[in-house]
Amino acid sequence: MSKKVIWTPQPKQRIALSRGEDEMLYGGAAGGGKTDYLVVEAARQVNIPEYRGLILRRAVPDLARIIDQTRAIYPSIDRGARYNATTRVWTFSSGAQIKLGSLFRTNEKYKYQGQQYDFIGFDELTQFTFDEYSYLKSRNRGNCKATKVYMRSTANPGGVGHGWVKQYFVTAGTPGETIWLSDKVIMPDGTTKNYWSSKVFITASVFDNNALMNNDPDYVKRLAQLPEAERNALLYGSWDSFEGQVFTEWIDNREHYKDRRWTHVIEPFKIPQSWRIIRSYDWGYTRPFSVGWTAVDQDGRFYRIRELYGCKKNQPNTGVRWPIEKVAQVILAIENNDPQIKGRQIYGVADPAIFAEQGSGKSQAATHAQLGVFWNKGDNARLAGKMQFHSRLAFDEEGYPMFQCFNTCTNFIRTIPNLVYSQIDTEDIDTEGEDHIYDEQRYGFMTSIITPKEVVLRNARAFDPLNISQTRYYR
Ligand SMILES: Nc1ncnc2c1ncn2[C@@H]1O[C@H](COP(=O)(O)OP(=O)(O)O)[C@@H](O)[C@H]1O
Ligand SMILES: [Mg+2]
Repeated sequence: MSKKVIWTPQPKQRIALSRGEDEMLYGGAAGGGKTDYLVVEAARQVNIPEYRGLILRRAVPDLARIIDQTRAIYPSIDRGARYNATTRVWTFSSGAQIKLGSLFRTNEKYKYQGQQYDFIGFDELTQFTFDEYSYLKSRNRGNCKATKVYMRSTANPGGVGHGWVKQYFVTAGTPGETIWLSDKVIMPDGTTKNYWSSKVFITASVFDNNALMNNDPDYVKRLAQLPEAERNALLYGSWDSFEGQVFTEWIDNREHYKDRRWTHVIEPFKIPQSWRIIRSYDWGYTRPFSVGWTAVDQDGRFYRIRELYGCKKNQPNTGVRWPIEKVAQVILAIENNDPQIKGRQIYGVADPAIFAEQGSGKSQAATHAQLGVFWNKGDNARLAGKMQFHSRLAFDEEGYPMFQCFNTCTNFIRTIPNLVYSQIDTEDIDTEGEDHIYDEQRYGFMTSIITPKEVVLRNARAFDPLNISQTRYYR
């Protein structure tokens, strides 16, 4: 009797299925066979009775395609496989189970508390926050000795998780190469032990999906017709531009770091003694805090020359939990030592929330003032602040914007292009993202409001047939 072939992996799916890293991101573009891969990967250990797998999507309606795909594949793998549409759990003849779950609000992560899954698969990981991913990682535990314990994710560029997913998987190494991380753990006997973990990014795009290319040759055409940012993201897997990005005008061009034209990132230069310094601050404890020093020239142009970002290493969007006194002390140390800042007139502006009285009856601003770090209340008008960002990033005819950033301010450079629009308040930034440096710089900008300009586009980035004048206004 000839065997019936249920599903054959395509070359990139085969590579993904062959890898043994603890964590993987598969895809990075549209149509790479990501969901198919995840559904098959989840089912590899269903012969082990204790095995528990979990496939996650953000919202329940998004699970529809996964459910269809599991219905198409799982009964052929195991004739005894049964799906319970109420609990969304597949139970296999061995007793093994795969749950198809959702995690719409961050607090819903606790519904997976007390569960342990040998396999966890995130479909469309960029729709999740790093916190949610980390929390679920703590639920990734073996239910018996026989199972392999690991996590797999798929994603397109874009979405609120774009920034951390890019940092965690895409730019952390070279696609296809194993990235090793070690964590030191202090053992009960006081000795330290290194624990190694591994992750990898396997790229796949529509060009790696022959099934789709054959069934629907026009799919590529439809992707090609998208506006440039989305086309680059979804068709070519570029993580530099994507739908929903707020600061599409952001340009980081190394070739112009020295001449400072048509780029927002520049090489540090010596700040003339007469220039003022604005020090801006957004406080955070469990979330990162951010301090920025911006020099202001005689024309009112801003240069971000230094930053202090309180983010835990290798844990995107997680605060260092410094006591507020320590923040002030480190600010003072920088201001007493940095030759670009030392001895100058400094104007401090901060998140107005730090003026609220704490449990002790004293505000953070008052505590800082006692230590010699003075703050003024920042203007927290969110949309006005966002317009100031756009206005200051706009280039004049010569290619000079009203704001530039030293290439040493790496956290600003990393986070600003990753900000996305909120799904709820479509004019504003999604505050689930890593927006602390943005907020901090916004308070700085609001100290000196400039009038919005028409944006000059040098090489128009987005091809928009309706955009005849090659100028663009922001929504
Ligand atoms: N190995 C495969 N064999 C046959 N069809 C496949 C295979 N992998 C993907 N496909 C088909 O290609 C299409 C797109 O795959 P999908 O997994 O939905 O891609 P993505 O999640 O990356 O958008 C679907 O119709 C899917 O069934
Ligand atoms: Mg998919």
